[in-house]
Amino acid sequence: MSAKVNNATAANRVPNGGKRDGEQISDRYLFGMLSTFLRPFWKELLLIFFMLIGVTIFSLLPPYLTQRAVDGPIQNGDLQGLIPYGVVYLLAVIGLFILRFAHTFLLQNVGQNALVDLRQALFEHIIRQDMRFFNNTPVGQIVSRMSNDIEALTELLSTSIVIVASNLVTLVGIILVMFAINWQLALLGLAVLPIMIVSTVYFRRKIRQQSDLFHRVVAEYLAFINEQFGGMLVVQLFGRQSVSRKEFETINRNYRDVHMHIRDLYTVYASILQILTTVGLALVLYGGGQGVLAGWATLGMLISFIQYTRRTFEPIMQLSEQFTQIQTALSAGERIARMLKVKSEIVDTDTPVDIKSFRQAIEFDHVVFGYDPDSPVLKDVSIKIEPGQKVAIVGATGAGKTSLAGLLARFYDVQSGRVLIDGVDIRQISLNNLRHYISVVPQSPYCFNGTIADNLKLFDPMITHEQMVAAAEAAKAAPFIERLVGGYDYMLLPGGANLSQGQRQLLALARALIHSPKSVLVLDEATSSVDTETEALIQEGLTRVLKGRTSLIIAHRLSTVRDADRILVMQQGQIVEDGDHTTLLTKNGLYAQLYQRQFAEVETTPRLAVSEPS
Ligand SMILES: Nc1ncnc2c1ncn2[C@@H]1O[C@H](COP(=O)(O)OP(=O)(O)OP(=O)(O)O)[C@@H](O)[C@H]1O
Ligand SMILES: [Mg+2]
Repeated sequence: MSAKVNNATAANRVPNGGKRDGEQISDRYLFGMLSTFLRPFWKELLLIFFMLIGVTIFSLLPPYLTQRAVDGPIQNGDLQGLIPYGVVYLLAVIGLFILRFAHTFLLQNVGQNALVDLRQALFEHIIRQDMRFFNNTPVGQIVSRMSNDIEALTELLSTSIVIVASNLVTLVGIILVMFAINWQLALLGLAVLPIMIVSTVYFRRKIRQQSDLFHRVVAEYLAFINEQFGGMLVVQLFGRQSVSRKEFETINRNYRDVHMHIRDLYTVYASILQILTTVGLALVLYGGGQGVLAGWATLGMLISFIQYTRRTFEPIMQLSEQFTQIQTALSAGERIARMLKVKSEIVDTDTPVDIKSFRQAIEFDHVVFGYDPDSPVLKDVSIKIEPGQKVAIVGATGAGKTSLAGLLARFYDVQSGRVLIDGVDIRQISLNNLRHYISVVPQSPYCFNGTIADNLKLFDPMITHEQMVAAAEAAKAAPFIERLVGGYDYMLLPGGANLSQGQRQLLALARALIHSPKSVLVLDEATSSVDTETEALIQEGLTRVLKGRTSLIIAHRLSTVRDADRILVMQQGQIVEDGDHTTLLTKNGLYAQLYQRQFAEVETTPRLAVSEPS
């Protein structure tokens, strides 16, 4: 069977509706989601269903043949007459084997392929989420959705469903056959069934609750080790090992306790089923024995009913064995469904516009914004930036500079007011188009697993080596790259751990120059970690690259912004000063103060003097 993966449409098949996270997921929604992904395979599923009926018939045949053989040829001593029964019995067993194999194989295929689509849809859904989602969702949680939870669903769709479906069909089949043969014996054999169903429903709920709890404990466990190992430097630096060990002990015990509780529940449930099965068999034997003596049943019937009765309980036992698995899978499915229900707030409108080029102005029009709506970090910001301007934003830590840049690239939406490009509200512009025009070099750049070249080109094969080298040279990253063993093929450790902070910044800068050659460039402290000499060189290089290009430069080191066309000074979410270096110095306000303070530092720290004014 071919894998019916359709990347473009997989994400669109996510059921709609629902608000942001934290919502309860109903079973109906959950099964809706699963069936959405199973629907493309309806033909295979139909075939599997018919196979299941075949399986049921073949598995119901042997007891019936036994009954006929006992009541017929065996009682009559007719050895010759026994042969056809033997042959049909054998054929039924072979047929059963073949059908079981075929339908298990087919269903495994369907399960795996449906999950390829689900995984794809989940991935596509997550990468479209806004920054708020990523701020609020630990990466470990997303990883867990994409790995453990999907894995649990795989198990459900490819194995558990086979067992559940075939057992349910078998159960119905057995009950029908039993009533058809002898209703009195059927009633005796099935007398304990209601108690079984009630206890199954009861334990189903219990185990599900516990497996939800178990998942939370596992998540806590994973988050803890993730954080501890990630922050090992701090843990060891401050001698926190013993505190960590104690904390881990608690989590570890919790883990075991919940696990054991689930196992206990399961053991009790399995024992109850065992006892009920035995009671059912005893009833058949006792009542059936009387029936044989009284003449309302035959010996063959009694023998076949003992087999049938045992087989009634078999599916229920098997279902119970699948129990933990199914519960785990359903909880996992619920968590996946919940994640799929989260809606990104930053999305294109129904009729997004594309801007062709930026000609008139970027405008912040009375912008108010807060990560938490009740405490704004940008309070009524209005600025207008002309094309080709080099605008600097300075201000204290936490003043809102990064937030301002984030609004321009639309990582967040304004709470009130507007951000406009050439008079068009950026919420009207298609996100792809917007981000093509606004290129942000973030404060703490990220390095992907790969070579320097991979990180510069971002795995884009269309970018030539020459383009890459030119950008690296403009960003002054080339000298350090060339000194590395292998140069552009130098392999980075996870997170770029084998580069210095400043080198990572140079890479990020070069990356932005490669990918957005014409965009508005936003540098958020892009060179804060490089030495002043390199920074001065970058300044020089950038002046050439940025000629005629609009740029927004956020910086703490005022030396880097002196030559900007305009300097905006931010304080507690507001623009308090706006003008060029000389104007602001004459104004003798906040900027002048900041500048004088840094200038004083420079005089006492000759090392920094390179890029400072003489
Ligand atoms: N993701 C976030 N969620 C909630 N609050 C945030 C988030 N990012 C920033 N803030 C808050 O917003 C305010 C402004 O932060 P912002 O990052 O814009 O400051 P900044 O001027 O860039 O500071 P710095 O110079 O240190 O980079 C801060 O008070 C900060 O606590
Ligand atoms: Mg910042």
